[in-house]
Amino acid sequence: MARSSNRLADEIELHDQKPLLADAQLEIKRGLRTDPKKLSPKFFYDQRGSNLFEAITELPEYYLTRAELSILHTHGTAIADAIGSSVCLIEYGSGSSTKIRVLLESCRPRAYVPVDISSEYLLHSSHRIADDYPWLHVYPTCADYSTPFGLPSSVDGLTRVAFFPGSSLGNFEPADAAMFMEGVRDVVGNEGWFLIGVDTKKSESVLNRAYNDSGGVTAEFNRNMLRHLNERFGTDFDARAFEHFARYNPSKGRIEMYLVSKCEQDVRLEGETFRFAPGERMHTENSYKYSLDEFVALADATGFRQHLTWFDADHQFMELLLKAT
Ligand code: AVI
Repeated sequence: MARSSNRLADEIELHDQKPLLADAQLEIKRGLRTDPKKLSPKFFYDQRGSNLFEAITELPEYYLTRAELSILHTHGTAIADAIGSSVCLIEYGSGSSTKIRVLLESCRPRAYVPVDISSEYLLHSSHRIADDYPWLHVYPTCADYSTPFGLPSSVDGLTRVAFFPGSSLGNFEPADAAMFMEGVRDVVGNEGWFLIGVDTKKSESVLNRAYNDSGGVTAEFNRNMLRHLNERFGTDFDARAFEHFARYNPSKGRIEMYLVSKCEQDVRLEGETFRFAPGERMHTENSYKYSLDEFVALADATGFRQHLTWFDADHQFMELLLKAT
């Protein structure tokens, strides 16, 4: 089909898998009843949280995004040569489109399937991509990618290449990371590929700085979760009464992020009250870091083999192209 360079909004069709939103209020209550209290990192991402995360990716201390972009720029041609033509690129969690644009230009896939749980954001970014790449078929798919989902039948016959950038795998617990990788293996099939960006284990001071930036953006990102919960789910947190805390835990190989109560205080949700002691920590995120060997073992165990691996110039971040086995 001939495509104009400025496509109309209704030319892009949303493939809506209607992700079942778990009962968030119940999940929040359960998290506040446990000791230590915890809230899921998925609650970071309202519009303000997404904007704050974009700001994090530009911080001098947060090397991850710059490092991955430099790998994609340097090795785009090698990625394209490995995966071949007749490709459908499936992006898990379509955040900022900077990285996918680098790949679209180097790999020129036939189709692009951005997968995201937020249909509004997904449609908005899909239209921008479709306008900028008139030769590309774009099939936005609204789904919760941590659970099984199907692809639109229009991509049948194309080689499937999954793309999961940003070391977002690090936000899964190890058992969930393995389940997620198995799910990707099901989606790409026997001939498929998986291109994934993974943050490496490194000096604790570099890691601690990346999650404790001097401008306080990560602190604001962390506290914003409480504002989001107040606005959307009816809690009455006083975000100013909590402090950001993030520290690398070397025995677990992960950054642990918490909100620490500055005083004794109560938080209410639907008639239930949760008491915080002064100094009490509430867990909000883990960000696991992998050595190359650890990650390759995970890939081997989940139906992939390491095909190509690249590091950035400072050896801080790795990008792996995995082949389905
Ligand atoms: C989205 N994710 C990979 C980020 C990370 O580094 O774990 C989230 C983040 N949390 C604090 N800073 C960035």
